[in-house]
Amino acid sequence: MSRFESGGTADAIYRFDVLILSPRRNEMLRIFSFVSEEKILDIIRVENLRHVYKSSSGDKVALDGINFSIAEGEFVAIIGNNGSGKSTLAKHFNALLLPTSGKIFIDGFDTSDEKNLWHVRENVGMVFQNPDSEIVAAIVEDDVAFGLENLGIAPEKIRERVDLALDAVNMSDYKNFSPSKLSGGQKQRIAIAGVIAMQTKIIVFDEPTAMLDPQGRREVLSMVKKLHAQGKTIIYITHFMEEAAQAQRVFLMEGGKIIKNDTPREIFSNVREMKRLGFSVPVAAELAERLRKKNFKLPPKILTADELAEALK
Ligand SMILES: Nc1ncnc2c1ncn2[C@@H]1O[C@H](COP(=O)(O)OP(=O)(O)OP(=O)(O)O)[C@@H](O)[C@H]1O
Ligand SMILES: [Mg+2]
Repeated sequence: MSRFESGGTADAIYRFDVLILSPRRNEMLRIFSFVSEEKILDIIRVENLRHVYKSSSGDKVALDGINFSIAEGEFVAIIGNNGSGKSTLAKHFNALLLPTSGKIFIDGFDTSDEKNLWHVRENVGMVFQNPDSEIVAAIVEDDVAFGLENLGIAPEKIRERVDLALDAVNMSDYKNFSPSKLSGGQKQRIAIAGVIAMQTKIIVFDEPTAMLDPQGRREVLSMVKKLHAQGKTIIYITHFMEEAAQAQRVFLMEGGKIIKNDTPREIFSNVREMKRLGFSVPVAAELAERLRKKNFKLPPKILTADELAEALK
């Protein structure tokens, strides 16, 4: 199946050549050509995705009719209470799990078509919650190189990519260290370096800061923002609302469905509803709401401390 038959994504440039056969010289002559530029920007498209875990104790519907598109270069955060289906969805992006029904297309490639597996994995890097379970080698640089060796890339190219990736996460000084000697935040940065070295267009983070202290959390989030600024498409699952507030778009999951898909400003400024759904909101949004109740005249939809400070001037 070609990527465009699948309703494909990515920027596609078609060139049409009109050719005639020259009778005398027995060759093809191009009489004219034109270029049609079709911008199809969705790098991820999910259609009616449903996932059911089957076990002896019964079936569990973990995803139930999910639909969305993500444009190349977007930064999307996914929030939701425990068991709402976030990790199940994350594992569909690189075909670790396949839909029970429905479809997911990565850069136009249907993940459930086995022929596309290589293209899908080449496009999607994953960073999970527990850095210890992601480290596979005894030395930092070997760990970062691991995925590349599996792709069959030449050794000198691997060295170059590993050095660049370690530099990008500010861990070059540790390249000969044993990962076991690193802090949790440093281990996560090594895991991120491994994904950077793979040069995937999409990076999916499943609660990468859940096991880190505030300093480690800040380091990882700043790495994520840097990767987004460089043009990567980011899917970022988190239980920290302050982190989600920094994305361009937030999906809120509940019971295997996406019940909200909006900007962080729209989602988090609705303080009362978020609380009803069992979520906190960023501190500035919460404080603004409390001040409004005390009759402070504040503009609507305050999200950040800077905006609140400005409004209180
Ligand atoms: N391998 C599995 N077999 C059976 N049920 C599963 C399996 N993995 C997850 N589930 C169930 O599917 C639902 C969604 O789980 P999932 O791990 O996707 O939630 P989550 O939103 O990532 O939760 P958390 O915030 O705790 O990480 C839950 O009810 C969970 O118990
Ligand atoms: Mg999870």
